[in-house]
Amino acid sequence: MPGIVVVGMQFGDESKGAVVDYMAKDVDMVVRFNGGANAGHTVVVGDLKLKFRLMPSGALRVKKLVIGNGVVVDPKVLLDEIEMVRNAGFEPDLLVSRKAHVVMPYHKIIDAGKVASSLGTTRRGIGPTYSDKMRRTEAIRVNDLVGDNFLEKLREVLKVKLHELLAFNIINDENELSEYIKRIYSEYSKYGDFLRPYTGNASILVNEALDDGETVLFEGAQGTLLDVDHGTYPYVTSSNPIAGGACVGVGVGPTKIDKVIGVAKAYTTRVGTGPFVTEIHGGLGDKIRERGGEYGTVTGRPRRCGWLDLPMLRYSIILSDISEIALRKLDVLEGIDSIKVCVAYEFNGEEREVMTPFVEELERCKPIYEELEGWEEMGPGSWERIARQGYEALPSQAKRYIEFIEEQLSVPIKMIGVGPKRETTIVR
Ligand code: GDP
Ligand code: IMO
Ligand code: MG
Repeated sequence: MPGIVVVGMQFGDESKGAVVDYMAKDVDMVVRFNGGANAGHTVVVGDLKLKFRLMPSGALRVKKLVIGNGVVVDPKVLLDEIEMVRNAGFEPDLLVSRKAHVVMPYHKIIDAGKVASSLGTTRRGIGPTYSDKMRRTEAIRVNDLVGDNFLEKLREVLKVKLHELLAFNIINDENELSEYIKRIYSEYSKYGDFLRPYTGNASILVNEALDDGETVLFEGAQGTLLDVDHGTYPYVTSSNPIAGGACVGVGVGPTKIDKVIGVAKAYTTRVGTGPFVTEIHGGLGDKIRERGGEYGTVTGRPRRCGWLDLPMLRYSIILSDISEIALRKLDVLEGIDSIKVCVAYEFNGEEREVMTPFVEELERCKPIYEELEGWEEMGPGSWERIARQGYEALPSQAKRYIEFIEEQLSVPIKMIGVGPKRETTIVR
């Protein structure tokens, strides 16, 4: 009954997609449990590069794929992704929870408004959809989208939402409402027809798989510091990317989770607004951004770059009980003479080893660094060769970097990424 959860340990984009794709070779089912199309999970296999936003990243391993109730589903994005996977030569065996909530077009418009934009959201309608879920009177679930009463539901919901539709100039006056409902219905009922065969009771399916002894991989989106409860609130997303989110976002009991794997980059990045203790301003930050291709998968925004932050990783380890780490993008740090690692924060004259999520405190935390010797640029084809040869073939300074992090965190680093491809993964 192995249930394995993969979570991001930083601010998202840690390379969860690459890790899930790699691990999916040994599992029976891959399940997304949180977030929506704000996620962009990249999988590179040979010359094929796909970015998954809603579809679990095991799609190229021909596994059973599940989208749990904790996900907010943009049907148009999902439809396009099903096509994308088919075009790549795979037929997705997908089940979407009927309990999941649907991102509607007005959610995206509201998310692009001034207030949401000040948080630097991805404008994919995530916050407004989760808000409606919690409000309960204004929500549309997958069950409504694919059911017989979708039009009635739409009328009922948009009557309650009228004030918001007017406030965001989505319609100009009340008389336009019925025309607006018709327009949405005509587009979204088609999505419902398309998705109906892919929907069902995901909670039962996943629990049955676990009870039958199958291995289920739960794929988190975003990262620990973007968690709505535990992250750098309010500069967070609206879901729970920590491991416990898998229990709620699918409907599995916590005792069915056997292992939690944390994914971290060998440095830190953040896209969007919010505090960032180890951020590097200027030259070296730009170099890492260019080397690492640090531009948002979903929005194309440049990602802010900084040194590895161990207080952040310690915090993530505690919240999700992470027992092993996958460290990616080690190759990006090549050619830097001296690599800094933040081992603690200084706050009010005291040393702190674990991150605080409170923005006002974080902004006053100063990083305490240790410097480690870097390694030289490896040249074309070198990382592929090293990945084939295994851990011992890494430059000695790179091994020291990894072992230093392990000593500091007391958690083993079992997977190392030295390139974006499935083939550039080292397992120890
Ligand atoms: P996710 O959201 O956590 O799945 O991560 P993203 O896909 O948004 O961002 C990770 C980026 O780094 C993608 O472009 C990956 O192809 C790439 N990547 C993943 N692992 C490695 C690695 O070990 N080295 C390098 N250079 N790139 C990597
Ligand atoms: P993956 O799964 C990185 C960030 C946004 C913004 C904040 C809130 O690819 O790691 P939202 O649209 O969720 O309301 O935006 O969260 N954000 C991400 N950053 N990776 C992601 O996903 C993200 N999903 C949301 O940039 O700062
Ligand atoms: Mg991403």
